[in-house]
Amino acid sequence: MRDLLLCPPDHYSIQYEINPWMSRARGADTPMVQAQWRGLYEKLCSLQANVSLITPQPKLPDMVFTANAGLAVGRRFIPSNFRHQERSGEAAFFAQFMEEKGYEVVWLPPDLYFEGEGDALFGGDALFCGYKFRTDIQAHRAVADIFSCLVISVELVDPRFYHIDTCFCPLPAESGYWFPEAFDEYGQRAIRDRLPNIIDVSAEEAQVFCCNSVVLDKDIVMPAGAPNLVAQLTERGYTCHTLQMCEFLKAGGACKCLTMFMPQRQEV
Ligand code: ARG
Repeated sequence: MRDLLLCPPDHYSIQYEINPWMSRARGADTPMVQAQWRGLYEKLCSLQANVSLITPQPKLPDMVFTANAGLAVGRRFIPSNFRHQERSGEAAFFAQFMEEKGYEVVWLPPDLYFEGEGDALFGGDALFCGYKFRTDIQAHRAVADIFSCLVISVELVDPRFYHIDTCFCPLPAESGYWFPEAFDEYGQRAIRDRLPNIIDVSAEEAQVFCCNSVVLDKDIVMPAGAPNLVAQLTERGYTCHTLQMCEFLKAGGACKCLTMFMPQRQEV
């Protein structure tokens, strides 16, 4: 049974533009937002996840994307240092929430940008961390020191895939799925070396954010629109649960962005 953190979308809307998906001209439809988020919440609960909810805050519309709260390993939590001032107000709320949950909160130096689980995903014993658009590569070293874990730093090169969780989803058994073109050549090599069984996703399917999935053992919750990937995962013994996420794609997010593991790993 995994513990997850979600944030109800009460204050979610497209109020600013900090990634190529966001356009204030294309606002979110409130009833659909509520229905799609509820669909995710209910699906995760039905898969035996233990879901905690943080209280959403006015004027912080992207707080719904809890993957960017920070990174929890064991009983310690590193809050994000958001790159954009539009989101920086979220950090104190997430840190306080995690403290109340009993986590020891360990802040990074304020000059190191880090956007939490959105840019830091464990695959095997390695923590794959993305950098450039949101997270600084220097933050990876600081995270590795705090958790004493092996960090593989990879550069993200496509602004549409600005967090690593938008283009990469690790699975057990040296596997996972990803959109390789979102990484530079070195990053592609580093990931393929460690995860030789990884599945390549096409540009068409990557665009629906199919890599932005929540993996709970053999169940995978992902946005709809990637039938080829679903077929390959099904062949490998996974059950894929596909959800409509179009209202969150308008902000550049989907299932995984809306979810944080508490913790992502027990210990490393
Ligand atoms: N609008 C949000 C932003 O640009 C979306 C965050 C998506 N989160 C994620 N983990 N990829 O920051």
